[in-house]
Amino acid sequence: HAFVQSILATAHSLSANSPNRASTKAQGVGSAPVNIALSKYWGKRDAVLNLPQNGSVSISLPGLGSETQLKPAVAQDSVWLNDQQLDASAPFAKRLSEFLNLFRTAEVPFFEVVTQNSVPTAAGLASSASGYAALVLALDDLFDWQLPMTQLSLLARMGSGSASRSLYPGFAIWHAGQQGDGLDSFAEALDAPWPEFCVGLVEIDVAEKPVGSTAGMQQTTAACALYQAWPAQAERDKAVIIDAIRAQDFSRLGATAEHNALSMHATMIASWPPLLYWQAESVIAMQQVWTLRQQGVEVYFTMDAGPNLKLLFLAAQKKAVSAAFPGLKVIEPFSS
Ligand code: DP6
Repeated sequence: HAFVQSILATAHSLSANSPNRASTKAQGVGSAPVNIALSKYWGKRDAVLNLPQNGSVSISLPGLGSETQLKPAVAQDSVWLNDQQLDASAPFAKRLSEFLNLFRTAEVPFFEVVTQNSVPTAAGLASSASGYAALVLALDDLFDWQLPMTQLSLLARMGSGSASRSLYPGFAIWHAGQQGDGLDSFAEALDAPWPEFCVGLVEIDVAEKPVGSTAGMQQTTAACALYQAWPAQAERDKAVIIDAIRAQDFSRLGATAEHNALSMHATMIASWPPLLYWQAESVIAMQQVWTLRQQGVEVYFTMDAGPNLKLLFLAAQKKAVSAAFPGLKVIEPFSS
């Protein structure tokens, strides 16, 4: 694939070794966290290169993610997820094999992929993001490319857009890019540690979602007049959130992130047929967040392509938020 070839050419020019070095290892390993977008990616301008309509900003959640081992295989790919071998016809395994088509060599015609996810798969908790990021790190290790993170981010993007951001701890920015070749559409770290920053996971339903992000985006961009307004708003929100992170202006960050998520969901709901990821309990949880804010507890929510809420708040509000949401899983991205 031309795109991958040009990235690997970079790897060889960066490497002190010969481009023809036979350095494939017996096994490659990689691990990566899930990430939550504060300003969302929704819609592709190029479905083959997986180029987004707009840039996005995220926060990675340490302790939740994927760990992958990758080995050369002989006759066919085999994919193991959480100690279970997947049928080659399972959608998850098929998508993975298609991605691996980009990387097969004479020496490594097939792969054995063994992944452990510490997040429920396909529950709107971005397991594809950590999964493809971990896989790309494992490929880098197996083939000893020694690529810089921004280049690995380009490759991860080909597996799943949000995976481009999962290469980094903390905040990350995925640039939409402008080039047709996709080489400028990668994520990089926004190095701005914020020790008080907390993310709370409200699990409404962790069952597999009926419409995945890829199909959901396609449906929205094809059949929603409101979507026309989305890319420009998303770029503005992205810029505001980056500024708010740098200034540690939590109110601005929270309000922009919540509005951005609701705007994205509005485009889904205004598609035909409609696409509604929410459940009744999701709406109840949103109203609880608004009630808490009225009571002076500063907490905001964001939501992805699923019914679960992710709450954003500062450590000073942890007690109050946890009391309102029993069983809330709280992650402090910068305090571990
Ligand atoms: C709502 O990255 O899963 O979570 O590129 O088709 O794999 P593909 O989509 P994916 O979409 C994520 C959508 C989102 C918003 C976000 O994470 O930015």
